[in-house]
This record gives sequence, structure tokens and C-alpha cells, in this order.
Amino acid sequence: MPASALMNIMVSAARKASRKLIRDFNEVEQLQVSVKGPSDFVSQADLQCEKTIFEELSRAREGYSFLMEEEGSIVGADKTHRWIIDPLDGTTNFLHGIPLFAISIALEREGELVAGLIYNPAMDEIYTAERGKGAFLNDRRIRVAGRRKLDDTIAVTGIPHRGRSGHEQLLKEQRSIMREAAGIRRTGSAALDLAWVAAGRFDSYWERGIKPWDMAAGIILVREAGGIVTDLDGKNNMLDQGHLLASNLPIHKAMLAILKDEA
Ligand code: IPD
Ligand code: CA
Repeated sequence: MPASALMNIMVSAARKASRKLIRDFNEVEQLQVSVKGPSDFVSQADLQCEKTIFEELSRAREGYSFLMEEEGSIVGADKTHRWIIDPLDGTTNFLHGIPLFAISIALEREGELVAGLIYNPAMDEIYTAERGKGAFLNDRRIRVAGRRKLDDTIAVTGIPHRGRSGHEQLLKEQRSIMREAAGIRRTGSAALDLAWVAAGRFDSYWERGIKPWDMAAGIILVREAGGIVTDLDGKNNMLDQGHLLASNLPIHKAMLAILKDEA
């Protein structure tokens, strides 16, 4: 399917921002030995990437509002449209030279997610979806995995960083899921976790304590790939609640039952 004008704008903003990001990624390993350490460098890369995306999208669609990881909320003249952006999801991976990080851009219209893009420049994988038009990896249509039995499935989750709450809760949940699923993974990028559920690589993804920019693009990707995404109460309030579960329908039911028991 030829890309729409909207998706062309999103892809071109992400590609432009990624050029500097990938140069920075190639430099980051050298910086491990510098006195200041690479953290400052990475936050600069993050800010610069967000600025490029912001400028590109503002130019292409005047007046739209923004919610961004670094700059926060910017209310534009057009309050019915809002971009939700994470310029660098998987920051810790980036810092350690692990090529699992992504740019994530979503568009909301009247509070509904209508388009999403997740781009992992290190693997040159660009995931896109628009409401009612399916989900794609580069130019190939993608679908969530078809596995129906929990014991055949791979679940992925996020582990709260040191100093964040939620460790005990996650350990309880992991213990129950380990008994039922084939295995559990942790990539370090919520955006890629969702993109990989959409592509059928992971069967399910759940996480608590994450932000709208971590999940917005991934939610529409999974839905357009034929999957189900809800919060951990089975409702549609993921962005407000900060927790979610994504998978195909049968696995969603089975995972939700386990996670509810551990809540
Ligand atoms: C983080 C990643 C991680 C998730 C964290 C997020 P960041 O985003 O998505 O997978 O577990 O909750 O904060 O900090 O790399 O942009
Ligand atoms: Ca993030």
C-alpha cells in the first residue's frame, strides 16, 4: 500500500532525526572511557533528536499540539491533534552500545490514536501503522503471532530501573508467568517490545509504570497488526494508568487472568 501523506511526514522526520542519532551511537562506545562519561553525551543526543522531530513535524503540520519525553506538553492552536514522541526509547541500551533503541512517534486525533511509527535505526527497521490500514515493518505487512497456548509463548516485560518502585510486584508477576509461558524476555525498550509483538516475534508484552510516549505508537501498531492492547484492568486507559498488556486475543485473556491474580 502506498504510504499516506501523513505517514510520509512521520517517516521523513524520524529518518532525519535518526542520522545524527546513529552517528552519536557509533561514538558512544568511545566515550565510555572519557572522564565525564557518556551520560551527558546521551542526553544531548536525546534532546537533539527530539528537537529535529519537533521542528520537522511543526513545519509539516502547523499548530498541532505535542507531548514529548524531554520538553513535556506543548499546546498548539490545534488542540484536536497531538503528537506523542519519545525521541530515544531504550536510553540505557544506547548508552551501553546495545543496538536496541528506537524513535517513537504517534498521532492522536480527538483523543484517539490514528497513526504510529517506531524506528530502530541500528537495525534499519521502521514499523508503521495508521488506523484501519494495517501495520507494516518496512514495506511488509505484519501480524501478531497466532499461538493460542500460553505454554508455547514468549512474554516480554520491562524491569523498573534501580530506585524505581514496582520490583516486588514484577517479581510476583514473573514468578506466575514463568510457570505458564515458554519464556520471558527484557529488551530495555518499551517501544520495541510493542513493535515486536506487532511483528509476531514476542507473543505478549506487559509493563507497569511507563509513560504515554513509551507506548502510544506501539499501541496502534499492535492493534493494526490484529492484536489486543488494554491496561491491566482490561480497560482502554493505558495512557492514563501507565500499565498495559498487548498480545493476540486468546493469549491476552490468559495473561490478564494471571496478572489480575497478582495485582
Ligand atoms: C524506558 C524503556 C524501558 C522501560 C522503561 C522506560 P527510556 O524508556 O522503554 O523499556 O522499561 O520504563 O522508561 O528511558 O529508555 O526512554
Ligand atoms: Ca522511553
